[in-house]
Amino acid sequence: MQLTVPLEIEIREEAKRLFANMRHLDYSMSECMLFAPITLKINRLKKQKNAVILAHNYQRPEILFGVADFTGDSFGLSVEAKRTNADLILFCGVVFMAETAKILNPSKKVLISSLEAGCSLSESITAADVRKLKALHPNVPVVTYVNTSAEVKAESDVCCTSANALKVIEAMPGNEVIFLPDIFMAQNLRKQTNKQIHSWNGKCIVHEIFTKEQIMSYKKQYPDMKVLAHLECRPEVIEVSDLAGGTSDMYNFIKKSTAKRFMLVTECGMSDLLRARFPEKQFINPCAVCPYMKKINLENILGSLEKEKFEISVPEPIREKAQSALDKMIAIGK
Ligand code: 13P
Ligand code: SF4
Repeated sequence: MQLTVPLEIEIREEAKRLFANMRHLDYSMSECMLFAPITLKINRLKKQKNAVILAHNYQRPEILFGVADFTGDSFGLSVEAKRTNADLILFCGVVFMAETAKILNPSKKVLISSLEAGCSLSESITAADVRKLKALHPNVPVVTYVNTSAEVKAESDVCCTSANALKVIEAMPGNEVIFLPDIFMAQNLRKQTNKQIHSWNGKCIVHEIFTKEQIMSYKKQYPDMKVLAHLECRPEVIEVSDLAGGTSDMYNFIKKSTAKRFMLVTECGMSDLLRARFPEKQFINPCAVCPYMKKINLENILGSLEKEKFEISVPEPIREKAQSALDKMIAIGK
Protein backbone atom coordinates (compact mmCIF):
# COMPACT_ATOMS: atom_id res chain seq x y z
CA MET A 1 0.00 0.00 0.00
CA GLN A 2 1.40 3.41 -0.96
CA LEU A 3 1.05 6.06 1.72
CA THR A 4 0.45 9.68 0.63
CA VAL A 5 2.71 12.27 2.20
CA PRO A 6 0.69 14.99 3.99
CA LEU A 7 0.75 18.29 2.07
CA GLU A 8 2.40 20.25 4.92
CA ILE A 9 5.35 17.84 4.88
CA GLU A 10 5.66 18.09 1.10
CA ILE A 11 5.63 21.89 1.30
CA ARG A 12 8.30 21.92 4.00
CA GLU A 13 10.50 19.56 1.95
CA GLU A 14 10.04 21.76 -1.12
CA ALA A 15 10.90 24.88 0.90
CA LYS A 16 14.08 23.16 2.13
CA ARG A 17 15.03 22.38 -1.48
CA LEU A 18 14.57 26.06 -2.44
CA PHE A 19 16.40 27.27 0.66
CA ALA A 20 19.49 25.17 -0.18
CA ASN A 21 20.23 27.60 -3.06
CA MET A 22 18.34 30.71 -2.07
CA ARG A 23 19.93 31.11 1.37
CA HIS A 24 23.02 32.37 -0.49
CA LEU A 25 20.82 35.23 -1.76
CA ASP A 26 19.66 36.05 1.78
CA TYR A 27 16.22 34.47 1.42
CA SER A 28 14.89 33.08 4.71
CA MET A 29 13.28 29.67 5.18
CA SER A 30 9.94 31.42 5.79
CA GLU A 31 10.20 33.21 2.42
CA CYS A 32 10.93 29.86 0.78
CA MET A 33 7.84 28.44 2.55
CA LEU A 34 5.78 31.07 0.67
CA PHE A 35 7.16 30.01 -2.73
CA ALA A 36 6.95 26.27 -2.03
CA PRO A 37 3.18 25.62 -2.58
CA ILE A 38 3.31 27.22 -6.02
CA THR A 39 6.61 25.66 -7.17
CA LEU A 40 5.18 22.26 -6.08
CA LYS A 41 2.06 22.84 -8.22
CA ILE A 42 4.11 23.97 -11.23
CA ASN A 43 6.47 21.00 -11.00
CA ARG A 44 3.52 18.57 -10.77
CA LEU A 45 1.80 20.10 -13.79
CA LYS A 46 5.06 19.99 -15.70
CA LYS A 47 5.24 16.21 -15.20
CA GLN A 48 1.57 15.67 -16.09
CA LYS A 49 1.94 17.59 -19.35
CA ASN A 50 5.44 16.38 -20.24
CA ALA A 51 6.55 20.01 -20.28
CA VAL A 52 10.02 21.48 -19.95
CA ILE A 53 10.78 24.89 -18.44
CA LEU A 54 13.68 26.77 -20.03
CA ALA A 55 14.76 29.82 -18.02
CA HIS A 56 17.15 32.58 -18.97
CA ASN A 57 19.89 33.54 -16.50
CA TYR A 58 18.13 36.88 -15.79
CA GLN A 59 14.99 35.27 -14.35
CA ARG A 60 13.93 35.57 -10.69
CA PRO A 61 15.71 33.19 -8.23
CA GLU A 62 12.47 31.35 -7.32
CA ILE A 63 12.09 30.50 -11.04
CA LEU A 64 15.74 29.54 -11.59
CA PHE A 65 15.94 27.37 -8.47
CA GLY A 66 12.27 26.44 -8.11
CA VAL A 67 10.89 25.34 -11.46
CA ALA A 68 13.47 25.60 -14.27
CA ASP A 69 14.69 22.39 -15.93
CA PHE A 70 17.42 24.24 -17.79
CA THR A 71 18.92 27.65 -17.09
CA GLY A 72 21.33 29.38 -19.40
CA ASP A 73 22.15 32.07 -21.92
CA SER A 74 20.33 32.68 -25.21
CA PHE A 75 22.64 30.29 -27.06
CA GLY A 76 22.38 27.40 -24.59
CA LEU A 77 18.61 27.71 -24.32
CA SER A 78 18.26 27.68 -28.12
CA VAL A 79 20.21 24.42 -28.28
CA GLU A 80 18.10 22.98 -25.46
CA ALA A 81 14.85 24.04 -27.19
CA LYS A 82 15.97 22.39 -30.41
CA ARG A 83 16.79 19.03 -28.82
CA THR A 84 14.07 18.62 -26.19
CA ASN A 85 11.75 15.61 -26.29
CA ALA A 86 9.12 17.33 -24.16
CA ASP A 87 5.68 17.97 -25.71
CA LEU A 88 5.49 21.48 -24.36
CA ILE A 89 8.15 24.16 -23.83
CA LEU A 90 7.39 26.90 -21.32
CA PHE A 91 9.92 29.66 -21.86
CA CYS A 92 10.82 31.87 -18.91
CA GLY A 93 12.59 34.72 -20.64
CA VAL A 94 11.42 37.23 -23.21
CA VAL A 95 9.26 36.80 -26.30
CA PHE A 96 12.10 36.68 -28.86
CA MET A 97 13.59 33.73 -26.93
CA ALA A 98 10.28 31.82 -26.94
CA GLU A 99 9.91 32.59 -30.65
CA THR A 100 13.41 31.24 -31.24
CA ALA A 101 12.40 28.00 -29.48
CA LYS A 102 9.33 27.68 -31.74
CA ILE A 103 11.39 28.41 -34.87
CA LEU A 104 13.92 25.71 -33.94
CA ASN A 105 11.42 23.08 -32.80
CA PRO A 106 8.12 23.79 -34.61
CA SER A 107 6.30 20.56 -33.67
CA LYS A 108 6.30 21.57 -29.97
CA LYS A 109 3.78 23.79 -28.27
CA VAL A 110 5.75 26.80 -27.00
CA LEU A 111 4.33 29.02 -24.26
CA ILE A 112 5.39 32.24 -22.58
CA SER A 113 3.55 33.40 -19.47
CA SER A 114 3.50 37.11 -20.38
CA LEU A 115 3.39 38.65 -23.83
CA GLU A 116 4.60 41.89 -22.24
CA ALA A 117 8.07 40.35 -21.91
CA GLY A 118 9.52 42.30 -24.85
CA CYS A 119 13.03 43.63 -25.44
CA SER A 120 14.17 47.14 -26.43
CA LEU A 121 16.68 45.71 -28.93
CA SER A 122 14.08 43.50 -30.58
CA GLU A 123 11.67 46.44 -30.82
CA SER A 124 14.31 48.72 -32.39
CA ILE A 125 14.18 47.15 -35.88
CA THR A 126 11.65 45.78 -38.38
CA ALA A 127 11.99 43.48 -41.39
CA ALA A 128 11.42 46.52 -43.66
CA ASP A 129 14.43 48.24 -42.02
CA VAL A 130 16.59 45.20 -42.80
CA ARG A 131 15.42 45.18 -46.43
CA LYS A 132 16.43 48.87 -46.75
CA LEU A 133 19.86 48.13 -45.27
CA LYS A 134 20.35 45.21 -47.67
CA ALA A 135 19.49 47.51 -50.60
CA LEU A 136 22.06 49.99 -49.34
CA HIS A 137 24.78 47.32 -48.99
CA PRO A 138 24.02 44.70 -51.67
CA ASN A 139 25.64 41.25 -51.28
CA VAL A 140 26.92 42.07 -47.80
CA PRO A 141 26.05 39.25 -45.33
CA VAL A 142 23.53 40.15 -42.62
CA VAL A 143 24.51 38.96 -39.13
CA THR A 144 21.59 39.40 -36.73
CA TYR A 145 21.71 39.25 -32.96
CA VAL A 146 19.06 36.81 -31.67
CA ASN A 147 17.43 39.69 -29.76
CA THR A 148 15.16 40.34 -32.77
CA SER A 149 11.75 39.27 -34.09
CA ALA A 150 11.23 36.19 -36.29
CA GLU A 151 10.57 38.53 -39.27
CA VAL A 152 13.95 40.23 -38.83
CA LYS A 153 15.71 36.87 -38.45
CA ALA A 154 14.02 35.72 -41.67
CA GLU A 155 15.69 38.61 -43.55
CA SER A 156 19.13 37.62 -42.22
CA ASP A 157 21.88 35.29 -43.40
CA VAL A 158 22.87 34.14 -39.95
CA CYS A 159 22.04 34.83 -36.30
CA CYS A 160 24.44 35.16 -33.37
CA THR A 161 24.35 35.67 -29.62
CA SER A 162 26.71 37.64 -27.39
CA ALA A 163 28.58 34.35 -26.84
CA ASN A 164 29.56 33.90 -30.50
CA ALA A 165 29.07 37.26 -32.29
CA LEU A 166 32.76 37.63 -33.20
CA LYS A 167 33.05 34.01 -34.33
CA VAL A 168 30.00 34.40 -36.59
CA ILE A 169 31.25 37.67 -38.10
CA GLU A 170 34.65 36.09 -38.81
CA ALA A 171 32.94 33.10 -40.46
CA MET A 172 31.21 35.31 -43.04
CA PRO A 173 32.65 35.60 -46.57
CA GLY A 174 34.09 38.94 -47.67
CA ASN A 175 35.35 41.96 -45.73
CA GLU A 176 32.05 43.56 -44.75
CA VAL A 177 29.03 42.59 -42.65
CA ILE A 178 25.76 44.21 -41.68
CA PHE A 179 25.45 43.64 -37.92
CA LEU A 180 22.00 44.21 -36.35
CA PRO A 181 20.53 45.75 -34.26
CA ASP A 182 22.79 46.62 -31.28
CA ILE A 183 24.93 49.70 -31.94
CA PHE A 184 27.14 49.29 -28.87
CA MET A 185 27.79 45.62 -29.62
CA ALA A 186 28.72 46.60 -33.18
CA GLN A 187 31.13 49.26 -31.84
CA ASN A 188 32.65 46.73 -29.42
CA LEU A 189 33.07 44.14 -32.17
CA ARG A 190 34.72 46.63 -34.54
CA LYS A 191 37.67 46.68 -32.13
CA GLN A 192 38.06 42.91 -32.42
CA THR A 193 37.80 42.36 -36.18
CA ASN A 194 39.27 43.75 -39.39
CA LYS A 195 35.92 43.46 -41.16
CA GLN A 196 33.91 46.57 -41.88
CA ILE A 197 30.72 46.51 -39.78
CA HIS A 198 27.58 48.39 -40.87
CA SER A 199 25.33 48.79 -37.84
CA TRP A 200 21.85 49.83 -36.69
CA ASN A 201 20.98 52.07 -33.74
CA GLY A 202 19.31 49.62 -31.35
CA LYS A 203 20.21 49.70 -27.64
CA CYS A 204 19.50 47.58 -24.61
CA ILE A 205 17.77 49.85 -22.06
CA VAL A 206 19.38 47.85 -19.24
CA HIS A 207 23.00 47.81 -20.36
CA GLU A 208 23.10 51.35 -21.77
CA ILE A 209 22.78 52.85 -18.28
CA PHE A 210 26.17 51.65 -17.00
CA THR A 211 28.92 54.28 -17.18
CA LYS A 212 32.71 54.22 -17.13
CA GLU A 213 32.70 56.61 -14.12
CA GLN A 214 30.57 54.17 -12.16
CA ILE A 215 32.96 51.28 -12.89
CA MET A 216 36.03 53.40 -12.09
CA SER A 217 34.66 54.45 -8.72
CA TYR A 218 34.04 50.78 -7.78
CA LYS A 219 37.55 49.91 -9.04
CA LYS A 220 39.04 52.48 -6.63
CA GLN A 221 37.12 50.91 -3.77
CA TYR A 222 37.95 47.29 -4.75
CA PRO A 223 41.23 47.31 -6.72
CA ASP A 224 41.48 43.49 -6.74
CA MET A 225 38.11 42.84 -8.39
CA LYS A 226 37.56 41.54 -11.93
CA VAL A 227 35.02 43.47 -14.00
CA LEU A 228 32.79 41.34 -16.24
CA ALA A 229 30.65 43.37 -18.65
CA HIS A 230 28.00 42.30 -21.12
CA LEU A 231 28.84 42.99 -24.77
CA GLU A 232 25.68 45.15 -24.93
CA CYS A 233 27.41 47.77 -22.72
CA ARG A 234 28.87 51.03 -24.05
CA PRO A 235 32.42 50.78 -25.51
CA GLU A 236 33.85 53.02 -22.75
CA VAL A 237 32.54 50.53 -20.15
CA ILE A 238 34.01 47.58 -22.07
CA GLU A 239 37.38 49.38 -22.21
CA VAL A 240 37.71 49.26 -18.41
CA SER A 241 36.47 45.66 -18.08
CA ASP A 242 38.37 42.38 -17.81
CA LEU A 243 35.78 40.45 -19.83
CA ALA A 244 33.35 41.51 -22.53
CA GLY A 245 30.88 38.77 -23.40
CA GLY A 246 27.57 37.11 -22.75
CA THR A 247 26.16 35.67 -19.56
CA SER A 248 27.69 32.22 -20.17
CA ASP A 249 31.12 33.82 -20.67
CA MET A 250 30.74 35.44 -17.24
CA TYR A 251 29.91 32.11 -15.65
CA ASN A 252 32.88 30.38 -17.31
CA PHE A 253 35.28 33.20 -16.40
CA ILE A 254 34.36 32.97 -12.72
CA LYS A 255 34.56 29.18 -12.73
CA LYS A 256 38.15 29.30 -13.99
CA SER A 257 39.32 32.40 -12.11
CA THR A 258 41.26 32.36 -8.87
CA ALA A 259 40.08 35.92 -8.10
CA LYS A 260 37.82 36.37 -5.08
CA ARG A 261 35.83 39.44 -6.11
CA PHE A 262 33.87 40.18 -9.28
CA MET A 263 31.80 43.04 -10.52
CA LEU A 264 29.02 42.06 -12.90
CA VAL A 265 27.98 44.79 -15.30
CA THR A 266 24.70 43.26 -16.36
CA GLU A 267 21.14 42.47 -15.30
CA CYS A 268 20.58 41.71 -11.58
CA GLY A 269 19.35 38.13 -12.16
CA MET A 270 22.83 37.10 -13.27
CA SER A 271 24.41 38.15 -10.00
CA ASP A 272 21.69 36.29 -8.07
CA LEU A 273 22.45 33.15 -10.03
CA LEU A 274 26.23 33.47 -9.60
CA ARG A 275 26.02 34.28 -5.89
CA ALA A 276 24.13 31.02 -5.41
CA ARG A 277 26.49 29.00 -7.66
CA PHE A 278 29.72 30.48 -6.22
CA PRO A 279 28.93 31.26 -2.56
CA GLU A 280 32.66 31.49 -1.76
CA LYS A 281 33.15 34.44 -4.17
CA GLN A 282 32.19 38.05 -3.54
CA PHE A 283 30.06 39.96 -6.01
CA ILE A 284 29.85 43.73 -6.38
CA ASN A 285 26.56 44.60 -7.98
CA PRO A 286 25.86 47.82 -9.76
CA CYS A 287 23.15 45.73 -11.47
CA ALA A 288 20.09 46.96 -13.32
CA VAL A 289 16.71 45.26 -13.62
CA CYS A 290 15.32 44.28 -17.03
CA PRO A 291 11.63 45.21 -16.74
CA TYR A 292 10.78 42.79 -19.56
CA MET A 293 12.46 39.75 -18.00
CA LYS A 294 10.74 40.51 -14.71
CA LYS A 295 7.25 40.29 -16.28
CA ILE A 296 7.59 36.56 -15.70
CA ASN A 297 6.69 35.31 -12.22
CA LEU A 298 5.59 32.08 -10.50
CA GLU A 299 1.91 33.07 -10.57
CA ASN A 300 1.76 33.67 -14.31
CA ILE A 301 3.90 30.56 -14.98
CA LEU A 302 1.28 28.47 -13.14
CA GLY A 303 -1.57 30.15 -15.05
CA SER A 304 0.28 29.63 -18.32
CA LEU A 305 0.77 25.91 -17.70
CA GLU A 306 -2.81 25.39 -16.48
CA LYS A 307 -4.48 27.16 -19.41
CA GLU A 308 -1.71 26.54 -21.98
CA LYS A 309 -1.39 30.24 -22.78
CA PHE A 310 0.20 32.29 -24.33
CA GLU A 311 1.07 30.13 -27.28
CA ILE A 312 3.81 31.33 -29.63
CA SER A 313 3.20 30.94 -33.36
CA VAL A 314 5.35 31.93 -36.32
CA PRO A 315 3.98 31.86 -39.90
CA GLU A 316 5.64 28.98 -41.77
CA PRO A 317 7.44 30.88 -44.58
CA ILE A 318 9.01 33.24 -42.01
CA ARG A 319 9.81 30.38 -39.65
CA GLU A 320 11.65 28.42 -42.34
CA LYS A 321 13.88 31.36 -43.28
CA ALA A 322 14.52 32.29 -39.65
CA GLN A 323 15.38 28.66 -38.88
CA SER A 324 18.04 28.65 -41.55
CA ALA A 325 19.72 31.71 -39.93
CA LEU A 326 19.48 30.13 -36.46
CA ASP A 327 20.71 26.70 -37.59
CA LYS A 328 23.80 28.34 -39.09
CA MET A 329 24.41 30.09 -35.76
CA ILE A 330 24.20 26.79 -33.88
CA ALA A 331 26.47 25.06 -36.42
CA ILE A 332 29.14 27.79 -36.00
CA GLY A 333 28.91 27.26 -32.22
CA LYS A 334 30.34 29.26 -29.34
P1 13P B 1 22.90 36.31 -23.12
O1 13P B 1 22.71 35.67 -24.44
O2 13P B 1 24.30 36.74 -22.86
O3 13P B 1 22.37 35.45 -22.03
O4 13P B 1 22.08 37.68 -23.08
C1 13P B 1 20.76 37.82 -23.46
C2 13P B 1 20.28 39.18 -23.19
O5 13P B 1 19.12 39.49 -23.39
C3 13P B 1 21.24 40.16 -22.70
O6 13P B 1 20.61 41.31 -22.32
FE1 SF4 C 1 16.46 42.99 -24.06
FE2 SF4 C 1 18.26 44.28 -22.58
FE3 SF4 C 1 16.24 43.01 -21.39
FE4 SF4 C 1 18.23 41.61 -22.57
S1 SF4 C 1 18.39 42.93 -20.79
S2 SF4 C 1 16.01 41.23 -22.75
S3 SF4 C 1 18.69 42.94 -24.32
S4 SF4 C 1 16.08 44.77 -22.76
